[in-house]
Amino acid sequence: MTIHLPELCLVALVGASGSGKTTLGGRLFAPGEVLSSDAFRVLVANDENVLDANGDAFDALYFVARKRLARGLLTVIDATNVQADARKRIVDLAREFDVLPVAVVLDLPEEELLARHAARADRPFGPGVIRQQVQQLRRSLRRLQGEGFRHVTVLGGAQEVQAAQVVRERLY
Ligand code: GTP
Repeated sequence: MTIHLPELCLVALVGASGSGKTTLGGRLFAPGEVLSSDAFRVLVANDENVLDANGDAFDALYFVARKRLARGLLTVIDATNVQADARKRIVDLAREFDVLPVAVVLDLPEEELLARHAARADRPFGPGVIRQQVQQLRRSLRRLQGEGFRHVTVLGGAQEVQAAQVVRERLY
């Protein structure tokens, strides 16, 4: 699957924990383009799993996103974004800078996500969190266009995620 992106846009990666957002973002985009909630939790609290640092981490992430968009730089938000209020913040930010909000959804089967989660030592929460995120993602899929995402790409499985490519286009 080739994802066509305008040269300047705000990309929301959308997917449950373990769906491969950070891996995909690292492959398709330059390091400075991807703002990861995990990385910002480390920056503000030394630990990507300190969830009570979320407020500070997202404040810092959005501060940097605004600086980038003000410079006309494509920006990717690497967070689960399975909740509507998280995505609304992204759409509102894109509108603030008059850039297109784009969603790239990593829609993996629950069993695969649970297996990956069980194999990870770096995510100290239970499988119920993954199940809840999968349900939130399912509910989200049909709402993304209506929320304001101008282009939505759904990668429906690990193979599609692994094969995804990005083409940046001057005119969109
Ligand atoms: P969170 O940060 O927890 O939201 O996860 P994420 O969606 O950013 O996924 P990430 O890219 O960090 O990958 C999570 C785990 O899945 C890591 O252990 C990866 O090695 C593994 N993983 C990522 N992509 C693949 C894949 O295509 N196949 C397999 N088997 N594992 C993968």
